[in-house]
Amino acid sequence: MDRRVILLGFLCLPLSLASCSKGEVYANASYVAEGHLTSFRPGSIWKDEAGEFIQAHGGQIQRMPVPIEGQGKVEKYVWIGENKENGSRGDPARMYYSDDLYNWKCGGDVLKSVDSREALDDDPYFVALYGELSKEKKDHVYEVLGKEAVIERPKMLYNAKNDNYVLWFHSDGKTALHDFAYDAGMSGVAVSESPFGPFKLIDRYRLNHCPADQFDAFPQSKGEARDMNLFLDDDGKAYVVYTSENNKTIYISRLNEDFTYLDVEPTLAVHKKDFIRLFPSSMREAPALAKIEGRYYLITSSTTGWDSNVASCWSSDSLFGEWQIDGNPFVGEGSTFAFDTQSTCLFEAQSGTWIYYGDRWNRNDIKDSRYVWLPAKVSQNKLSVTWKSEWTY
Ligand code: GAL
Repeated sequence: MDRRVILLGFLCLPLSLASCSKGEVYANASYVAEGHLTSFRPGSIWKDEAGEFIQAHGGQIQRMPVPIEGQGKVEKYVWIGENKENGSRGDPARMYYSDDLYNWKCGGDVLKSVDSREALDDDPYFVALYGELSKEKKDHVYEVLGKEAVIERPKMLYNAKNDNYVLWFHSDGKTALHDFAYDAGMSGVAVSESPFGPFKLIDRYRLNHCPADQFDAFPQSKGEARDMNLFLDDDGKAYVVYTSENNKTIYISRLNEDFTYLDVEPTLAVHKKDFIRLFPSSMREAPALAKIEGRYYLITSSTTGWDSNVASCWSSDSLFGEWQIDGNPFVGEGSTFAFDTQSTCLFEAQSGTWIYYGDRWNRNDIKDSRYVWLPAKVSQNKLSVTWKSEWTY
């Protein structure tokens, strides 16, 4: 996020605080959900089966094969997100798994961040992953996974062709040009044989950019990729969805068969064939994409940092076709600022039952940010999300 976006955040703050009377509208937010759970309690403290606060912010939920001792690979719900126990730099990606979506086992930090450059030379965990690399390449790994690096919104796909797991994340940090934590603006990619990791960084990349015949909202920094998500379509093709052009334009780009990079590299990629730019200059981020009853729905937030803002939903019959603006999908009291959340994921709990998962960030104690899962329904090609203080799917 650049300085202008942060400024916008400050400008929106009073409005945002005014609408978020958490004590009133979200009266249950102080509940502690622990023990054996049989319902969702949006905004409450949510503990895993070991009694620890679930740390998987900016996350993603989906079903995928998980190796379980003595059982081989078993389909489970997998939750991956940012472990913010140590603040908001160098956050490892943490994984949880579940059979019922209410009760989660911690699978550990599957993409670890690196505490010091020396650890790449002497910590056995990192030596096993990166020991073969040259000094320059290790320096690069440290730049991407080090203490000061931004590792946000990790997302994971199971690649059936290779029987492996591919993790993408918003990779950011200062650059030689600017002493600003969100200057790099890239997507990081890591791979593992297991959803429990260890994930090994492949690299990080700038992605597609604005075609020469279109108006580029940020021509001075091409191919930026910040808040992001992964989307696996029902034909097996995977896509990365991300905010670009200084957070002004959302892109959807198709991935290669290994899910490790773009299908067609940026210099050759063709707009509306290999990627699409959506609503240039609309200033959206936090993309959550799903295909529901054959139509694609994309929820995004505005760009006010950790503060909640007005969400928007766009929909289309085809990923690289025409998209329409459906407006705010949230309905009822508290819906103006998405029930005080920022979108991160839309997922299918079971056939035909969809869940919106948003983050309720706590900028003063970021690890205490809460998860808000709510029912998402489609009627007449419109997606809507309603508030429930406690519910089951
Ligand atoms: C938000 C973004 C988060 C994080 C935050 C930092 O806009 O969605 O993932 O980057 O800004 O201020």
